Amino acid sequence: MAPVPTHIVDHPLVQDALRILRDTATGPGQFRGETARISRLLTAEALRDLPLRSITVQTPLGPARAREVASDVVVVPVLRAGLGMLDAVLELVPHARVGHIGLQRDEATAVASQYYAKVPPGLPEAYVLVVDPMLATGGSAVSAIDLLRRSGARRIRIVCIVAAPEGIAAVERAHPDVSIYTPVVDAGLNGQKFIVPGLGDFGDRLYGTT
Ligand code: PRP
Ligand code: URA
Repeated sequence: MAPVPTHIVDHPLVQDALRILRDTATGPGQFRGETARISRLLTAEALRDLPLRSITVQTPLGPARAREVASDVVVVPVLRAGLGMLDAVLELVPHARVGHIGLQRDEATAVASQYYAKVPPGLPEAYVLVVDPMLATGGSAVSAIDLLRRSGARRIRIVCIVAAPEGIAAVERAHPDVSIYTPVVDAGLNGQKFIVPGLGDFGDRLYGTT
């Protein structure tokens, strides 16, 4: 059992999409579709506690009490694989603003280095959702969160699609107040720091660059 604050999202449709993403027979078109499907469900779970405020709207038959989202949401895809999750989040949270962080793991050392960053202002008051499908060593996630913290972010959640125990431990060590939302925690990493069984290189499968 993964320790808190890791939330295992065990919805049947999440697990069904994960099955298709793992399958080597799944090509880029279907892979993109299933990435969107699983991302919608994970996002709904990660934002379950978004604050609401009461308002009144006019229906054709008169006033009705309603509730609207009362908080700013900022979604931050970690390039490049996180881009596959972005549109699904924006579909659910159309008013969200978007930051981008470009990180690339060195193929030999698996150490991530940053090549791009642009985040919106107002992070201290926002719910910040970092979307990155693979949490392997955790180096990319920790580096993204470090950057967001320096920009003032306080409420940060990570949404991923496959996590390794090593990545969860790294995030917990560096940022114990950051929650992780994932459908699964796999067995661990291989010699190349890929998640086993995982699903391979997410970015390559998403964009057909294998
Ligand atoms: C992948 C993935 C994560 C990172 C996870 O990105 O999308 O960002 O690896 O690994 P870590 O937890 O060990 O840091 P990659 O660097 O392969 O870049 P890409 O998204 O451009 O393919
Ligand atoms: N990045 C991926 O895309 N897959 C892994 O298994 C690890 C890092």
